[in-house]
Amino acid sequence: MSNEFMGKTAIISGAAGGIGLAIAEALAEQGMNIAMADIDKAALIASGEALQAKGYNVITCSLDVTDYSQWEDVVANAQDKFGKVHMVVNNAGVGGASGKIEDAEHETWRWVMDVNVTGVLYGAQACIPVIKSHGEGGWVLNVASMAGMMGMPYATAYCASKAAVVSMTESWIPELEPHHIHTSVLCPAFVKTRIHESYRNRQEKYAIAPDKRIDKEKLKAGANAAAMAVESGIPTEMLAKRVIEALSSKQHYIFTHPHYRKVAMGRFKAIEEAFVDAEESPVVGHLIDEDIITF
Ligand SMILES: NC(=O)c1ccc[n+]([C@@H]2O[C@H](COP(=O)([O-])OP(=O)(O)OC[C@H]3O[C@@H](n4cnc5c(N)ncnc54)[C@H](O)[C@@H]3O)[C@@H](O)[C@H]2O)c1
Repeated sequence: MSNEFMGKTAIISGAAGGIGLAIAEALAEQGMNIAMADIDKAALIASGEALQAKGYNVITCSLDVTDYSQWEDVVANAQDKFGKVHMVVNNAGVGGASGKIEDAEHETWRWVMDVNVTGVLYGAQACIPVIKSHGEGGWVLNVASMAGMMGMPYATAYCASKAAVVSMTESWIPELEPHHIHTSVLCPAFVKTRIHESYRNRQEKYAIAPDKRIDKEKLKAGANAAAMAVESGIPTEMLAKRVIEALSSKQHYIFTHPHYRKVAMGRFKAIEEAFVDAEESPVVGHLIDEDIITF
C-alpha cells in the first residue's frame, strides 16, 4: 500500500473517542503515525492502547485545547517520537447547552467558544510552523459542523462557534496554499458520539456560580432533543471513511450528509435575494460597478 499519507504524522485533538478516534484509526490505517490528544486521560489511554494493539504507530498526549502551552508539549512529543509533523486535526469540541437567548449562561458561552474556536486557533498556531518547517507540505483539518452552515434556534453558542471554524478555515485555505498545506473543514450533521454529554469533560475554570445557574428544567427539552438527534446519527466509521475519501480528492469543504445540501442552498438563496434587493436599492444600487476590495 502506498498513498500520500503513508509514513507521515498527524496530531488529532479530542481523539479519545467519537469522531476524533475514528479519524485517528482511519489515518493510521493509511499508514500515518498518530499523536492522539485529549483532555479525558482515562479514555485517551484506553483508546490509544486499543489502536496500538492493532499494530498502529500511536502515542497519546494529555491536552486541554484551551491551554496553549499544552499544545506546545503535544507538538514536542510528536516530534520526539515521529520526527516531523504533517497534519493537525482540530477535532476537540463541545456541544454546550441548548436554550433561549435569555437563558444562555455566560460561563457556558465562554467554555464553548474557548474549546471550539480558540482551541482550533491554538492547534493551528502550534502545528503550522512545524508543518511549514520541513517544506513537504501537509494538512490542516478543522472539524466544524453543519451547524456552521446554518443558524439554529436555541443553539446560539454551538452554531456561532462552528460558523467561526468555517470562517477560520476559509481564511487559512489561501494563506496556507503557497506552503502546500491543504486546509479543509469537516461539516457533518449528526454522528453517533457522546457530544450530547460534553459536560463530562467541562473544565473547573468554567464552573457556574450557583446563583447564575439556569434552572435545569428550562434546558431539559433542548438537551433531550439533542440526545435523540445524536443517537440517530451516522456511525463514526462511515464518517472517517468519507474524510479519507474527501482528503484524497483535495476537498476544502467535507460534507458527510449530502441530503443537507438543501439547507445550505436555502441560506445561499436568501443571501442571493438580499443582494438583488441591495442592487435595486436607490441608496446603494449604484455601487454595483465598483471594484471589489480584498487583501
Ligand atoms: N456528533 C455529532 O453529531 C457532530 C456533528 C458535527 C460536528 N461534530 C463535531 O465533532 C467533533 C468531535 O465531537 P464528537 O461528536 O466526537 O463528540 P465526543 O464528545 O464523543 O468527543 C469529543 C472529544 O473531545 C474531547 N474534548 C472535550 N473537551 C476537550 C478539551 N478542552 N481539550 C481536549 N479534548 C477535549 C472529549 O474528551 C472527547 O474525547 C466536535 O468538534 C463536534 O462539535 C459532532
